[in-house]
Amino acid sequence: MRKTLVGTLFAAVAIIIAGCAVTYPTAEVAAGAEIFNKCKACHSANPSKGTFGPSLTGVYMRQAGTLYGFDYSEELTNAMFVWDDEHLRKWVAHNKMVLKGTRMRHVSITDPVEQDYLIAYLRYISDYPKKMK
Ligand code: HEC
Repeated sequence: MRKTLVGTLFAAVAIIIAGCAVTYPTAEVAAGAEIFNKCKACHSANPSKGTFGPSLTGVYMRQAGTLYGFDYSEELTNAMFVWDDEHLRKWVAHNKMVLKGTRMRHVSITDPVEQDYLIAYLRYISDYPKKMK
């Protein structure tokens, strides 16, 4: 009797945990979400949450340095590019080489596969394109 009760409790807890786990549309996006943990200290995927860095929701294909209300460095404010794949790759690999005066710390994600996953996740939280394949 006791055993079944414990078993039932375990099953219930397992169901609750499974219910809370976030599910992503593709394995790439899920892998990217893991890599995004390296960014979370300073960046939120929640647009209403103010953090040390600008929210990265909607960052994919956004003009650099244009999130309303965020106090960017002068270099990022004056940057004249959009956050496409090419710029995001360079940025996470060697951001100080893209903009010398940026306030963002160097994160050094140089593995192209990790960059692919991260970009898949950034596209996902930017809802770009509207429907993921
Ligand atoms: C130690 C804090 C920190 C970490 C970690 C960090 N960032 Fe940043 N990030 C910043 C700050 C601060 C800025 C604004 C820099 C400026 O104004 O020069 C920024 C800016 C950016 C921008 C430009 C956004 C815009 O609106 O133009 C992108 C893209 C970005 N970060 C991506 C990332 C990614 C991806 C990661 C993780 C791999 C990451 N950052 C990790 C602090 C951080």
